[in-house]
Amino acid sequence: MGWWRYVGVFMMSMTGTGLAQETGAIRLPPPETEGGMLLMQALKARHSTREFGSKPLPPQVLSNLLWAASGVNRPDSGQRTAPSAHDWREIDVVVTTAEGAYRYDPPTHTLKRVVAGDIRHLTGVQDFVAKAPVNLVYVADLDRMSEASAEDKAFYSATDAGFMAQNVYLYCASAGLAVVVRGLVDRDALGAALGLGRHQRIILAQSVGYPAGAK
Ligand SMILES: Cc1cc2nc3c(=O)[nH]c(=O)nc-3n(C[C@H](O)[C@H](O)[C@H](O)COP(=O)(O)O)c2cc1C
Repeated sequence: MGWWRYVGVFMMSMTGTGLAQETGAIRLPPPETEGGMLLMQALKARHSTREFGSKPLPPQVLSNLLWAASGVNRPDSGQRTAPSAHDWREIDVVVTTAEGAYRYDPPTHTLKRVVAGDIRHLTGVQDFVAKAPVNLVYVADLDRMSEASAEDKAFYSATDAGFMAQNVYLYCASAGLAVVVRGLVDRDALGAALGLGRHQRIILAQSVGYPAGAK
């Protein structure tokens, strides 16, 4: 039974974010924003791993992970754990699991289903991506970047995604999770599977799970 059955599932209308077939919403548990490893210890522990166990991430861990990536940390303004050039907030985090692909919606801390079914193997060209329980995909919506030049859109969307990926690295170090950020992605194949439009660009992917051999 998929983990989403343990949390409230309710239907939402199309949200206009441009991701195809965005029909379902899954409420995540509130993120745990206290505790964790001391920052300097997390920086010491941060590293990339390319071997993952198959154990899924519990909803609480997924909630914490996504909040670290791009969650709202200042509810008054809706601003996020990661900085964003011009506060454009143009990067969507798409979560792919064995069950499907979901867009993380920071204001509601929910997942909106984009694709039903397992497309993890399409999130990268390395063998481990099909097995890693979660592959995050950082998708830039260039239409949110107002009148910026093409060069600036490319530069700022890449840096903004990088900040999110580093937040995820530090959360994973703190939580004892295995993680690697990845630029090697077949963007045409993954973009087609996610139903991305011309204004959307896949910047990075990031595999997350428990280390191989962990109980
Ligand atoms: C922008 C970027 C793209 C990367 N792309 C890949 C990738 O496609 N596949 C991969 O296995 N590692 C990828 N990495 C991870 C690097 O190989 C890794 O960070 C580097 O070897 C240093 O290791 P460390 O992260 O443990 O310090 C990428 C890292 C960055 C910053």
